[in-house]
Amino acid sequence: RCQAVIFDLDGVLTDTAHTHYQAWKRLADEIGVPFDHQINERLKGVDRMSSLEIILERSQRQYSTAEKQQLAARKNQYYVSAISQFGPDDLFPGVAKLLRDLRQAGIRIGLASASRNAPLLLQRLGIAAAFDHVADPAAVAFPKPAPDIFLAAAQALAVPAEACIGVEDAVAGIQAIKRAGMAAIGIGEPAQLVDADRVLATIADFDIHQLIAF
Ligand code: BG6
Ligand code: MG
Repeated sequence: RCQAVIFDLDGVLTDTAHTHYQAWKRLADEIGVPFDHQINERLKGVDRMSSLEIILERSQRQYSTAEKQQLAARKNQYYVSAISQFGPDDLFPGVAKLLRDLRQAGIRIGLASASRNAPLLLQRLGIAAAFDHVADPAAVAFPKPAPDIFLAAAQALAVPAEACIGVEDAVAGIQAIKRAGMAAIGIGEPAQLVDADRVLATIADFDIHQLIAF
């Protein structure tokens, strides 16, 4: 029986996949590196520095570690200023109700986001108090697709992995959930999220009654 649901944040609870895209796109344009939505698919769920490495695959020149850190910091400034404008209206439809229903059903709620900005974003969205635990991506050894952050969340919630459901929009995230030994619900395209146990078009399709039997 499901005792906990562990959510990804970006692209699952709110449409920051697009906000991340715009911030990277601005940086990529500034340094003259081609970047499009297809490359962006590979960035979903991937941490900041690894995302930069993927973007720089198309760069004409090499960057030092210090320069890369500056580039990543610049992208983060663009991103933070964008999400600072976010509010509860930026939650995907159905999220606030889903979080309330889960709490009422006694199901623990965790967050397993690779984003260092997750606490700020949860505040802006007005759902910080809905989470029993927010895993710290800086505190785990390996990023998604490694299972570490989902396992850290489960451990903090004191729920065994096999009683957890993970919810993700990214290929790397679904892999992380499966490697953690949890059931995986994908949000997006079944053709993209082939390893998910079930794929929903949007988070609004998440049916808590189906879930309890999952
Ligand atoms: C993930 C996003 O949730 O967080 C990625 O899907 C992003 O696109 C990653 O790069 C890291 O985010 P941040 O806010 O720490 O740069
Ligand atoms: Mg995501």
